[in-house]
Amino acid sequence: MDKFVIEGGKPLKGEIPVSGSKNSALPALAAALLTEEPVILGRVPRVRDLQTMERLLVNIGATLAVDEERVTVHANKIVSPEAPYELVKTMRASSLVLGPLVARCGVARVSLPGGCAIGARPIDMHLAGLQHLGAEISQEHGYIQASAPGGLKGGRIVFDRITVTGTEDILMAAVLAEGETLIENAAREPEVVDTADLLKLMGAQIEGAGTSVIRVNGVKKLHGATHEIIPDRIEAGTFMIAAAITGGDCVVTHCRPDHLHALIAKMQEAGITVESCGDTAVRVRGNGGIKPVDVTTEEYPGFPTDLQAQYMALMTQADGISIITETIFENRFMHALELMRMGANIRLDGRQAIVAGRGNLTGAGVIASDLRASASLVLAALAARGETVIDRVYHIDRGYEKIESKLSAVGANISRVD
Ligand code: EPU
Repeated sequence: MDKFVIEGGKPLKGEIPVSGSKNSALPALAAALLTEEPVILGRVPRVRDLQTMERLLVNIGATLAVDEERVTVHANKIVSPEAPYELVKTMRASSLVLGPLVARCGVARVSLPGGCAIGARPIDMHLAGLQHLGAEISQEHGYIQASAPGGLKGGRIVFDRITVTGTEDILMAAVLAEGETLIENAAREPEVVDTADLLKLMGAQIEGAGTSVIRVNGVKKLHGATHEIIPDRIEAGTFMIAAAITGGDCVVTHCRPDHLHALIAKMQEAGITVESCGDTAVRVRGNGGIKPVDVTTEEYPGFPTDLQAQYMALMTQADGISIITETIFENRFMHALELMRMGANIRLDGRQAIVAGRGNLTGAGVIASDLRASASLVLAALAARGETVIDRVYHIDRGYEKIESKLSAVGANISRVD
């Protein structure tokens, strides 16, 4: 298993480019199952979760052509409308093929995901949404079977709470359902908007993506399209924090500062200089002192749960006490225990972490428990005195493309060892 060895204490300086969004590319690949024609996607990041999704599509019967620039998916025939346990257990987002498969084939069989390191994460709202579109749902041997032999029918879905992949899954089902569908209490994340933009290019009729009510008018057929995935706002945010935590000066390029307002506001409040450089880059300068600033995670446009762990690493360097409240997932503080091994002063109290800053972090052996937790440990290691060895970095490979080369290019001392 690979490890990262990081020698901390070096301010990062220079330009650092952002890849395409993992959480946008996942539903985009699933959406390609909705048409017999090729769908060409630009800026799909080469990360493990995308490779898992690509394997799943091939299993289903699609052919894929992958090069540095883009992925072409051609699902002219569906051989097996199924997401097997072997793939779903390594990546929960595999359940994103449920909606497209029922919509296209009238049937889908998808393994239930099971446990997850950051919380329970059931898919009950995806299933309830499909039932509102007329699908029959049954469960046997750990699999969900959804069927709608006569095709899906438009309906009104009100999500009990906001779900990102749930909104995408139901949106992808509704585009081929007969008549009108209303999705209320929909997620407003940029990744949902990107999914809708791709579907519209494929011929779908959708209004309101990016608001909490999405209206879909079903069409009989979708066609092929070419689409570029939006920049990964979580990767961008991670690099912005990397610049700040090391007291560096970096321009994070190829990103969308307008997707990062919540993080930018918190960093500015903390006394860090953050300036947009046009529409596609942001410059971050650490000025020495970092003020403690509380954060509560929320659905977009609130502060993203996917940056909570990285923000906690930043607050270990603040001049005082901050409170971080996690409202989306019930168990997303595993990184706090590892940060404490590096000398951070953090107290956990249910959904809150109380971080007393200015603990001088020192390098230590730590273990990554999930994707964003690993990013938080990398950030802490960049700020720490001495050497940190991070074990189980396969978690970070799920969602960050070439992170060690991108960080090395701006001066980090980081290497991957077997
Ligand atoms: N939930 C339910 N039932 C459902 C669906 C969700 O109870 O049917 C609960 C979840 O357990 C959670 C909350 O609703 O407590 C919100 O979960 P959501 O469905 O929004 O999460 P997700 O769609 O499974 C996506 C991202 C996550 C990100 C969350 C929240 C993808 C592939 N994943 O997950 O990304 O944390 O939205 O923004 O888009 C990551 O990239 O590291 C990651 C975990």
